[in-house]
Amino acid sequence: MRRESSFMLFSGSSHEGLAKQVANILGIQLGEVEIEGFPDGEIGIRILETVRGKDVFVIQSPARRPNHFLMELLVMVDALKRASARSIVAILPYYPYARQDRKERGRVPITARLVADLLEKAGVTRLLTMDLHTDQIEGFFNIPVDHLRARPLLVRALQDLRLKNPVVVAPDVGNSRMARKYAEDLRADLAIIDKRRVNAKTVAFNALIGDVADKQVVLVDDICSTGGTLMAAAEVCRTQGASEVIAAVTHGLWAGNALPSGFDRFLVTDSIPALNSNVDCVSIASYIAEAIQCIVSMKSISSLFKT
Ligand code: R5P
Repeated sequence: MRRESSFMLFSGSSHEGLAKQVANILGIQLGEVEIEGFPDGEIGIRILETVRGKDVFVIQSPARRPNHFLMELLVMVDALKRASARSIVAILPYYPYARQDRKERGRVPITARLVADLLEKAGVTRLLTMDLHTDQIEGFFNIPVDHLRARPLLVRALQDLRLKNPVVVAPDVGNSRMARKYAEDLRADLAIIDKRRVNAKTVAFNALIGDVADKQVVLVDDICSTGGTLMAAAEVCRTQGASEVIAAVTHGLWAGNALPSGFDRFLVTDSIPALNSNVDCVSIASYIAEAIQCIVSMKSISSLFKT
């Protein structure tokens, strides 16, 4: 039985598991949609129930096949807009193309901005997302952006491990702000690794700033793609005498089916569908459901960030 609600929730095909969990928590059913691929590879969408005048949420996590899932989302949003939805909130637990967010060199794109423009142009009226690669991406939008942090969830999971002598380590300088917040929440020291990216596939490490000897290292990162950054950082920490190495990551891309090795534990959220069972999966479903409720009832979302 569908419970009557003032809003509707639809799912793209990238992460139906998460969308179903969110719908269950909210006590609603997912909106009915037909997604089909044409023989030439184009995407066809048909919304199978009326959305006229409704506030509509669409969950899509464009990872692993970012081009396909992003296009699928755009096509679905276009269909919802043309079917007279009152508002369309795109829920992207993982925001794709985020790492090209500035012109570091000549003749390169700013894809994070391009994605923002595409979403707005398609008809998205609000974005709900989590741990953007950099905060400045929020400013690429002219619509409201609700930016959730995975930290409260991962900190809770880390607290459950009852670590006795933890030190939070940022695997590169870019992550040091986020790592500092983890350190504050866990009342732990902070250390930073000086990483240099040689190219898209290779990283080199220079120095470790801080002390990890005989400590339980908590390596934090927003993204684990090939795993190269975190595995090399774990190695640096072990060489410097760390007694244990735990990773806490928001988005597990596992590019090329990378399996993390060299960790005592690996905590990762399910912002992207889990690929392997060697990791401890931290569910974001209730967090997303709470955020939807806040948006629908026009309540502040910042209270959700408290650890
Ligand atoms: C870099 O700025 C990010 O925070 C991650 O450290 C990076 O994307 C991880 O990539 P990989 O797992 O391929 O080293």
